[in-house]
Amino acid sequence: ETVDWDPEDAGKSGHEHYMLKEIYEQPTAIRKCLRERVSEMEESITVEELSDLGTLERDGPVQFVACGTSFHAALYGARLLREQGIHAQCFRASEYAAESVPIHSGTVVIGVTQSGETADTMSALRTANKAGASTVTVTNVVGSSAARECDHVMYIRAGPEIGVAATKTFASQQVALTLLTSALTGSASLDTIKRLRTLPDQLQRVLDESTAREIAMEYVDADSYFFIGRGYNAPVALEGALKMKEITYKHAEGFAGGELKHGPLALVTEASPVFAMATGENHVEKMLGNINEVEARGAPVVAVTDSPATLSQYADHVLEVPDAGPRLTSVLANVQLQLVSYWVANELGRSIDKPRHLAKSVTVE
Ligand code: G6P
Repeated sequence: ETVDWDPEDAGKSGHEHYMLKEIYEQPTAIRKCLRERVSEMEESITVEELSDLGTLERDGPVQFVACGTSFHAALYGARLLREQGIHAQCFRASEYAAESVPIHSGTVVIGVTQSGETADTMSALRTANKAGASTVTVTNVVGSSAARECDHVMYIRAGPEIGVAATKTFASQQVALTLLTSALTGSASLDTIKRLRTLPDQLQRVLDESTAREIAMEYVDADSYFFIGRGYNAPVALEGALKMKEITYKHAEGFAGGELKHGPLALVTEASPVFAMATGENHVEKMLGNINEVEARGAPVVAVTDSPATLSQYADHVLEVPDAGPRLTSVLANVQLQLVSYWVANELGRSIDKPRHLAKSVTVE
């Protein structure tokens, strides 16, 4: 007796694409990232792999180097460190050497790379090592080139990611960088710990209740897609646009909400839906201003928000996320955007797991 199954499909656990499977794996990926690192009893966060790095000097400096989706996670991580008073900056790995960034013995350079094999990130890390910086990589792959190159390695533990477009590894990078920030600045609070522990269940709720598929169907024919966010949602706006480009081959742009008036508004029409992330009180207020600006140009607005009652009065559609605090809510908002891009690409019949012209890891500079 034979069972008719294709091993390739079996690997997708019933999902049509690895990407969707990996989107659904995010609660598990986050749980794995947190395991044995977060203790509610002791109100502490420890990252064993980083313990010999000690605590960061007040002014650091810390320099992040990364590419693609990992660069967006690095932007998120740099914000977290700056909030703790650390002088943290972010560089596109491909530009790092050319930027002549001052490096001295107290400088910590953190390479964020899912694969640990990206040539530009490797080259930036080698530059940093040669100049005497202390190097760290935040990676998913044990024994990868980045893991071997750097003085310290923190694993994000997301499990293998097959889809070329990074999904679960981005969420795991956000969580790992939250842990890294707490560990290196001694800033773990009970609030952060509680929020981290609740995050996987909240993410599961987003996956179970998301209406992203229906909303995606409305905008499959759009000319371009805009993504705006403020604060911790600003890097997620960039990531939302990157995901859309990668798998749908459509024009998409992401930027900080405040930049809207400085150019992009000229491109906004009724054929360009705007995905506006409005989470946390401060940003909801300011985002309403942005929403008015784009609606006046006829653009449909999809709000990704933890205040659905308010936003449904202004936006055409609402994608709801639970409140996970001022930083981690952006992890949940990103998941809604991943789903929108996935369903648009699916409807367009794109090669979702292996988009044209793209590679999972780019090993040439
Ligand atoms: C490629 C992949 C992207 C990824 C980027 C950085 O462009 O297609 O999904 O974000 O490389 O990869 P890394 O392995 O360094 O995170």
